[in-house]
Amino acid sequence: MLQRATAFAPSNIALTKYWGKRDHTLNLPLAPSLSVTLSDLGTLTVVAPNPDLDDDVMMVDDQELDPAGMTKVRRVLNIIRQRAGTQVKAGLRSVNTVPTARGLASSASAFAALALAASKAYGLDLDERELSILARTGSGSAARSVAGGYVLWHGGTTADGSDSYAERVFDAEHWPLKILVAVVADQKKKVSSTLGMKMNSAGTSPLFDAWIGQCQRDVVTCQKALQDKNMRALAEVVEGNALAMHATMMSNRPPLLYWQAPTVALIHAVQRLRSEGAECCFTIDAGSSVVVLCEPQDARAVADELAAVAGIEEVLQTHVGSGARLVGDAV
Ligand code: DP6
Repeated sequence: MLQRATAFAPSNIALTKYWGKRDHTLNLPLAPSLSVTLSDLGTLTVVAPNPDLDDDVMMVDDQELDPAGMTKVRRVLNIIRQRAGTQVKAGLRSVNTVPTARGLASSASAFAALALAASKAYGLDLDERELSILARTGSGSAARSVAGGYVLWHGGTTADGSDSYAERVFDAEHWPLKILVAVVADQKKKVSSTLGMKMNSAGTSPLFDAWIGQCQRDVVTCQKALQDKNMRALAEVVEGNALAMHATMMSNRPPLLYWQAPTVALIHAVQRLRSEGAECCFTIDAGSSVVVLCEPQDARAVADELAAVAGIEEVLQTHVGSGARLVGDAV
């Protein structure tokens, strides 16, 4: 049965990163990764199958989605339509509560919301593993936005990606950390993660193979730090992993340098705060903004310090949240 369906999916922040693919079409990673799901930053998407449409159309934040984005969306929709045994196209509308214009990634929450809303709209009843695999075919990191809390994305070994999916390893209540996003003003048009990964995987960084090996080890160390709720151990692995990813990017030819001056100032601020006793650590994705994980009692003081760094537009405050879910029609 075809019906209109709406889903919300949260954004996620990798604690150990996905940066390197063994398959660029299916978004199969060279290493597993771990992430934390954000509570209220994400994407709300409504999918309405419509027999009168000649093609799929999608509006994102009231603008028509560009052709490159539409190709990825169609890839996910076509898998669903094939399984559902229908050719019917759909009208889609998305609203982001992640500030995309400020350089924060929204593809993870976007494709997780699309996978859930579209599979429901086309009458499929998929479990979390199947949804994660479906979301992954739109954008790799979206595999992790299906689940809530602390999430592990298995790299997998099969060519079809059937064992490359994400699942929750600890729920949000296990360690209810606060998450602060220090948004850096960045005028430069940045290289997308998809393109950056393609450039970096092509083999011009002397660090690339060592980076992938490091990721395999970091996932194990990070999961232990999460289990023990040990911020010192978490800081060592999470910060080390992010810096190693950026070192790999920077040592590419041509280099990928995502940082701005405030990015470096934020790194120093977090390290100073921790040396003064604050329980916090930072990570950085393919951009200039810095995400800080923090024990609740230190969140306010840490947020104030981050906001005082020159060049910071704003500090968003959120916490560990639950995974993708269906909601009543709201867009
Ligand atoms: C640096 O998932 O956006 O945020 O699979 O090509 O869509 P595609 O890439 P994407 O890459 C995310 C890269 C990262 C690290 C991470 O989230 O693990």
